[in-house]
Amino acid sequence: MINFSSKLLALLQPEVKIVVLTGAGISAESGLATFRGPGGLWKNYRPENLATPEAFARDPQLVWEWYNFRRDQVRQHAPNPGHHALVQLEARFPDFVLITQNVDGYHRRAGSKKIYELHGNIMQSRCSQCGRECEAGEELQREHLLYCACGALYRPGVVWFGEALPPGALQSAFAAAENAQVFFSIGTSAVVYPAAALPPVAAEHGAYLVEINPEKTPLTPLVDEFWQGQAGEILPALVHRIQQVSA
Ligand code: OAD
Repeated sequence: MINFSSKLLALLQPEVKIVVLTGAGISAESGLATFRGPGGLWKNYRPENLATPEAFARDPQLVWEWYNFRRDQVRQHAPNPGHHALVQLEARFPDFVLITQNVDGYHRRAGSKKIYELHGNIMQSRCSQCGRECEAGEELQREHLLYCACGALYRPGVVWFGEALPPGALQSAFAAAENAQVFFSIGTSAVVYPAAALPPVAAEHGAYLVEINPEKTPLTPLVDEFWQGQAGEILPALVHRIQQVSA
């Protein structure tokens, strides 16, 4: 059981500015594979063949098969108590921002409202040339490759290796990190930039850093508190503790 520090509990006043960064680990307890570590997707699949603009140009069919497979996984599973606990935190703290690297959309499905999705959303498709969003149904997309009116292929609405992140979301995320008083890094290996730069930026601007992960990461030496364990257990316990303290 986590012994939440009195320092952190004292910081978690209603007016505190909280920023949460999540990665694939928060969806692990839902049944979705993470990217790195045991059973990680990048252990069995090569990202350069599946998640780059070059791979899509070379073999769009293969790339779409991979994303349709992952869409199936996302559809077959559901948000877990970790996602739901973050919804409760957002309801409790008016100045709460959620930044996610996840493309599964589970935070929205759980009910989180203020979210910056840095790596896009796997359920969306957009034109690989003009960026227009695809309105065609999922079934059609599975049957054959779809082309936009501009003549280019539709692609999954995610960020691939070597691509820039959506500028609006990225700027907002860094602005939030700079303003944060408490910053949680949850379920991320903290190795993929620019997202991995957010916790150090928050710390440089005075935020109190908390990390939740079953494993240590390159961020761990920098944090004020490392809570070793599963997000789906620790986050509901934190919500419960905050409720007790304020009762
Ligand atoms: P990773 O797969 O790199 O890391 C997942 C982290 O979650 C690891 O540090 C695990 O120890 C931790 N973890 C596993 N189970 C957990 C649990 N129940 N609770 C909390 N933590 C748990 O995933 P990300 O850091 O999200 O990018 O990866 C970052 C980016 O790399 C992804 O967004 C994706 C990938 O390539 C793109 O596709 C652009």
